[in-house]
Amino acid sequence: MKIMQKITVFIFILFFGCENHEEEYVKITTKVALNQPSNFPKLRYNLIQNPLTEEGIALGKKLFYEGRLSKNSVVSCGFCHEQASAFTHHGHTISHGVNNLLGFRNAQPIQNLAYFEEFNWDGSAIHLDLQPIIPITSEFEMGETIPSVLDKLSLDTDYKQLFEDAFGDDEINSERMLKALSQFMVTMISSNSKYDKIVRNEGNIYFTDEEKEGFKLFKNKCASCHSGELFTDKSYRNNGLPFNSKFPDEEGRARVTGFLDDFYKFRVPSLRNVAVTFPYMHDGRFKTLNAVLNFYSEGMLDNGGKIDTLLLKRDGSFGINLTPSEKKYLIKFLNTLTDNTFLNDKRFSEF
Ligand code: HEC
Ligand code: HEC
Repeated sequence: MKIMQKITVFIFILFFGCENHEEEYVKITTKVALNQPSNFPKLRYNLIQNPLTEEGIALGKKLFYEGRLSKNSVVSCGFCHEQASAFTHHGHTISHGVNNLLGFRNAQPIQNLAYFEEFNWDGSAIHLDLQPIIPITSEFEMGETIPSVLDKLSLDTDYKQLFEDAFGDDEINSERMLKALSQFMVTMISSNSKYDKIVRNEGNIYFTDEEKEGFKLFKNKCASCHSGELFTDKSYRNNGLPFNSKFPDEEGRARVTGFLDDFYKFRVPSLRNVAVTFPYMHDGRFKTLNAVLNFYSEGMLDNGGKIDTLLLKRDGSFGINLTPSEKKYLIKFLNTLTDNTFLNDKRFSEF
């Protein structure tokens, strides 16, 4: 065994010792281990194909807040994904990008995305590395082309250095840009809400009686779709929102699959940090959680698609029965999902 090791070391020195010219390109990067919350499900992002490094994450963060990713050089990812509102677009029902053009969907939070395999309200992006191509090239969001973004970055010597630090040489290409963005987004884990501390038994933290009541109601009436520690079963469902005639082309999941059955289905959203991610739903139609709960209890309408049978009541109508005090308790519980550590974490903030 020992001899084998010596031989291996010898071969190693022989092999790499001769390849001196390689060395000037081999930069040392600092590997980063992802801190995974013990109550979370299995990671979905493949870290073997894109290992996290301090340099890669730092580059990803700079790119996330980089206006030059857009046509007018003002609209960065962070423009629509603001930290204080769990990286949603505060005050905007639908996205609002370059040249004041409006899109047709509400910006989603950026949190815990390493635990997902499909992205956007309709699942139109099937890999985290590919998702940013959509906002960069969408005329409603950043209105750019990838080659033009790469050209702009290549003119900047700071970027040359950052790409070299992260990937070993100063080539700036789309794969590297997207991998760096993913590295940054993968680290954006929100797992330190009051709820988390209670489920992980971290010291003297308890639900109030009202929160406890709300949690019970949530498990009975909401967790069939907003399930597990991510508060979503990641499926696409039609939750009975009245059709929004302001966006006549919206088809939900059917836009991706082409199936009639998928009309007006949307990915069940995670409810983590939901107290700060208003306005709500794919089109941002509700400003408050109270309005959301009023919708669930009395606002459901035929919207031209198939409303989820989980929402079918005994009398044949659709909705979830909720009394005024039940609504109050549910909101108290939902507020325990706010993670102030995440919302203030300097690792993710622009400055
Ligand atoms: C003009 C506003 C705007 C800009 C700029 C923007 N986004 Fe978004 N983002 C949105 C909207 C709206 C959605 C929902 C899109 C949909 O469902 O069609 C979204 C969705 C996402 C998602 C999917 C989240 C999930 O839970 O599935 C990711 C990831 C994301 N954006 C990352 C980025 C990155 C990275 C950038 C910069 C390259 C960026 N966004 C720029 C508005 C924006
Ligand atoms: C049949 C599945 C289902 C059930 C049951 C359900 N939801 Fe939802 N929920 C959804 C879907 C799907 C959406 C997204 C719909 C859209 O945007 O068009 C959603 C959206 C939401 C939103 C908006 C989140 C955001 O980021 O915009 C909140 C808040 C919410 N649900 C809370 C609840 C609560 C509280 C309950 C229980 C009273 C509940 N839901 C029951 C499927 C469900």
